[in-house]
Amino acid sequence: PSVPRLEHHTLERIETVWLGLATVIALLLFTSVLASFLSGTIPSLSGEGGHQLTGVAKGRLDPKDIASTPFATPGLRENPDGTLEAFVVAKAFAFDPPVLRVPAGRPITFHITSADVMHGYQVEGTNINVNVIPGQVASFTTTFRYTGTRSAVCNEYCGTGHHNMIGRVIIEA
Ligand code: CUA
Repeated sequence: PSVPRLEHHTLERIETVWLGLATVIALLLFTSVLASFLSGTIPSLSGEGGHQLTGVAKGRLDPKDIASTPFATPGLRENPDGTLEAFVVAKAFAFDPPVLRVPAGRPITFHITSADVMHGYQVEGTNINVNVIPGQVASFTTTFRYTGTRSAVCNEYCGTGHHNMIGRVIIEA
């Protein structure tokens, strides 16, 4: 008799409250995932690196339009105003260019897109780690503070060759 007893209708009320909370949380999660996809990129700024990630832009690009964009000739390019941009195309199961040469100490804006399915682009030892979603362009600006060779790996399962989808970034003085 020392245990307090809850009336049946009280239990129902508590259940209703928790059901409501669970529904709200599920809706919030769904909305945030949807918003991330719609905004063009889902960056995860993890890991330690000798460089800074200064921004993530958004963009869209239909894979069949790649040929009429700078992605048609991927790689590093220097603009007339002296800024550097790197264009990378991910496709099953390689990155184009497979070896990207970049200078250390200068801001470089990366643009990465997929020609087919969803891939990832993660540069070992840095905080570069983006989803590469077909139809979208993942963009970010970074400055490498060191020289050397780093692996660029696909970290989204994309098919039978996923584990072989490894490129290289060579950072030169
Ligand atoms: Cu591309 Cu995994």
